[in-house]
Amino acid sequence: MTFHLANVAESKLVSEYGSPLYVYQLDAVVAALADLRDALPAEAALYYSLKANPHPQIAATLREGDCHAEISSEGELAAARAAGFPGADCLYTGPAKSAEEIAAALDAGVTLFSVESSADYRRVARAAASAGKLARCLIRVSGSASGAAGLRMTGVSSQFGVDARELLAEPERFADVEGAQVVGAHFFPVSNVADEECLFGEVAGSIATAARLRRETGLRLKQLDLGGGFAAPYAKPGARPRYPTLRRRLEKVLDAHLPGWRDGSPLIAFESGRHLVGGCGTLICSVADIKQRADRTFVLLDTGIHHLGGLSGLGRMLPDAAPVPVAESGEQTSTVTLAGPLCTPADVLSRSTRLAGLTPGDLLAFPNLGAYGLTASLIAFLSRPAPAEIVFRGEEPISASRLRITRETIR
Ligand SMILES: Cc1ncc(COP(=O)(O)O)c(C=O)c1O
Repeated sequence: MTFHLANVAESKLVSEYGSPLYVYQLDAVVAALADLRDALPAEAALYYSLKANPHPQIAATLREGDCHAEISSEGELAAARAAGFPGADCLYTGPAKSAEEIAAALDAGVTLFSVESSADYRRVARAAASAGKLARCLIRVSGSASGAAGLRMTGVSSQFGVDARELLAEPERFADVEGAQVVGAHFFPVSNVADEECLFGEVAGSIATAARLRRETGLRLKQLDLGGGFAAPYAKPGARPRYPTLRRRLEKVLDAHLPGWRDGSPLIAFESGRHLVGGCGTLICSVADIKQRADRTFVLLDTGIHHLGGLSGLGRMLPDAAPVPVAESGEQTSTVTLAGPLCTPADVLSRSTRLAGLTPGDLLAFPNLGAYGLTASLIAFLSRPAPAEIVFRGEEPISASRLRITRETIR
């Protein structure tokens, strides 16, 4: 199912809320959640990763669909709380957590933390001990075992997690301490994997690694978070990939390695951001100017890398976005460069979009921008206002709001 704004008059929205603006369709979130649940074992818990989009109504829709929240900052904690998630429903992740944010999370009732090193584990333990609490910790593991023998490390080294070989060699670094105990493992080796075979291989490798760690180190495995990697198209037309055989194949691997999982021992969990919410968002913008140069045509928009695709953190310096015209011109398309209004040559959204017959004032719609859109972009750069964000349920607009960055005085 696709959720274009077929019956929503883009130009009416623009005249009411200004251009550019984001539109989110909650029905698309509900549909994506149902499809992902179908692709995963029924017994598994599912965490919504608020980094994909912390909008409270999007997060609340996933809470109503029985998701938990995967959060990674005090801001995401606040967004999760605003969406109605109790602290006890949140998993707090991240590779370099500060003592202050851990204390704030504990104070909000968070008890489950992904720890990414023994120093991170001790920091969580110290904060919990001084608050008189016990933190339950999942060790984030950064390798996977392929088959029964040997460890296959997932590609290049990264700043994330604890190397599986280190864990096998020195499990005592994660022994119970005052304030914390390890209750399981957390994997997130890949992201945005559309190929089912490849995704299955990664998750199966994580299951094998977790089983091996339990067998060889006595790792307590009450919960196993297998991460995700479920893909979604970004800023261009396209459908969410489906994983029709994943559930059945994962159940077999879990039965083989972790009998007991069907009764919650261990509790299996997955995480998803982009796959759940990518398809719900559309960015509508206007053509501000068109410049014919000798070698190419520049289409200047009123939106740019401050509203979408400022994803340097995800290795997406050039989003290569492909908007669709809100009104078809019928003319033959040609390749254009899409540039934004910022005073930097980096403000380019695509060098290869094919469009036709545009004139200043025309509206364009970037589909599939419900994840890693506005809040993953350079929103403060050049101090322009954020676009309005309009949330729809069915045909009904249910909220309109705008993010604002303000300066506060520190005593
Ligand atoms: C630990 C962790 N969980 C979840 C996610 C969400 O990923 P996605 O939006 O691709 O599902 C990420 C993304 O970087 C991550 O690092």
